[in-house]
Amino acid sequence: MAARFEASLPEIIELQKVAVSDLDPLLAEEIGVWQQRFAWDFRPSAELLRRFLQIHSLYGCALAFGSRIVGYAYQVCEGRKGLIGDFYLLRDFARPSYEMLLLGSIVEGLMRTPGIRRIESQLMMLHMPIAQPLPFGQHLTRHDRYFMEIDTALTDRLPAVAPDFRVTFLPWAERYQEEIAHLVTAAYRGHVDSDINDQYRTIPGARHFLMNIIKFPGCGNFFPAGSVLAIDDSSGRVCGVCLASMVSPSSGHVTQLCILPSARKARLGYELLRQCLLLLLRAGCSTVSLTVTCTNVDAIRLYESVGFRTLATFPALVWDGF
Ligand SMILES: CC(C)(COP(=O)(O)OP(=O)(O)OC[C@H]1O[C@@H](n2cnc3c(N)ncnc32)[C@H](O)[C@@H]1OP(=O)(O)O)[C@@H](O)C(=O)NCCC(=O)NCCS
Repeated sequence: MAARFEASLPEIIELQKVAVSDLDPLLAEEIGVWQQRFAWDFRPSAELLRRFLQIHSLYGCALAFGSRIVGYAYQVCEGRKGLIGDFYLLRDFARPSYEMLLLGSIVEGLMRTPGIRRIESQLMMLHMPIAQPLPFGQHLTRHDRYFMEIDTALTDRLPAVAPDFRVTFLPWAERYQEEIAHLVTAAYRGHVDSDINDQYRTIPGARHFLMNIIKFPGCGNFFPAGSVLAIDDSSGRVCGVCLASMVSPSSGHVTQLCILPSARKARLGYELLRQCLLLLLRAGCSTVSLTVTCTNVDAIRLYESVGFRTLATFPALVWDGF
């Protein structure tokens, strides 16, 4: 099938110029792949992309053979940062040379965009082998990340633990959002994840990060009833949070778990995660997933200790200093 189209040369075209009907076969295949590999319902994200495409406001690149679109990558620009929002090639065409062509083109386009000084991406659908050199390597930092999953049936037997200091657990409420932005910034100061996502480095950035996970479907639908925070009884301040979303009617996703540095190693992370998992189980989730940077050993130890297992490894790529 691929061979017939490959008789013509691959071509990069502006995504803005692609008709929705030409992207639909890719989105249909991609929806199936997200479901199969990650128990993730990609349909709301695909619908959003279709709507942007319809009004010619989806920017990025498409890979075409003749009239057939076989891959796409879209971008979002936020201030001085360009984000590669999604990257997908039809299975028949997902080989390193085409992936490099598409990735190189979108990165180059962003590098040429006035005002853009940094590019971030987390490419869960990239097939390239880990050793493959990537485009614009002189400006690139790569962090590999795990996609982990737990069968929620395992969470029912996890023992409740009282952290080593007095805390009150509360369900997520909007009035804590500002305090949580401060918590996120403090928790990720000097942390590898703030190299991957620079929103963690500042309070306005953390506010933006929270708004994104609460309002937009990129990380699933925010699930307040499964999100828990901890208040330090002595200070009255939020000292830890675990946020959840639903990525399908039967799968949850932990979008954030972080604890103030001064409150760590007191089993608060464990207890927040346990309560969140239990709430997701009761909401009908049979699996819960999360992503974690491979070098974040403290977090990985915690996740493995409760029963999470790694399903996939994918790269987080950052181009800076160009
Ligand atoms: C990762 C993070 C959330 C862990 O929070 P924490 O409150 O320090 O973690 P806990 O105290 O609950 O767990 C710490 C230890 O208890 C262990 N533990 C967890 N559950 C346990 C249980 N039921 N019984 C015994 N030990 C347990 C953990 O494996 C871990 O072991 P260690 O001491 O050998 O490291 C915290 O370090 C943090 O906020 N880091 C920065 C942000 C971050 O990386 N978030 C994760 C992004 S994916």
